[in-house]
Amino acid sequence: MKKLEIIAGSKEEVYEQLLPQIAALVENETELTANLANITAALKEAFGFLWVGFYLVKEDESLNQSLVLGPFQGPVACTRIPFGKGVCGTSWKEKRTLIVPDVEKFPGHIACSSLSKSEIVIPMITGDKVIGVLDIDSSSLNTFDQTDAVFLEKLLNDYLSTL
Ligand code: SME
Repeated sequence: MKKLEIIAGSKEEVYEQLLPQIAALVENETELTANLANITAALKEAFGFLWVGFYLVKEDESLNQSLVLGPFQGPVACTRIPFGKGVCGTSWKEKRTLIVPDVEKFPGHIACSSLSKSEIVIPMITGDKVIGVLDIDSSSLNTFDQTDAVFLEKLLNDYLSTL
């Protein structure tokens, strides 16, 4: 297994180097859990974010769906998030990326860690169905912008199109 090669640079430059390496990492593996785990590790290693992880849509015995914690890197986190709740549940409901510059100003934000100050959540969409979300938390305010949204959406869409 090759090490990630990330030279320091602007956010765009880091994403531009990282995305092809992630694509290479997941292309010969069909197991979703393994690939999502490596995606979280690569993002954490490249950017040093506080928390990077997936929540996956799962159904319980009563056919109620919620987001359930999947592969992640960082401190322990909430295990279940209902539809429409928190940043993750809202991204699921609205089927769109949410950038939260200050989590304290997002009504209903679910605080898994008091260290988290800003957040981005990208839905994983196949067809017209949301199968999960990628959630990234930062310990600083205002960490995420349109650049993160564009590259992270590309990362997920490229991977999901191979499933
Ligand atoms: N803050 C998220 C919950 C997940 S943790 O940040 C890992 C939310 O409001 O949905």
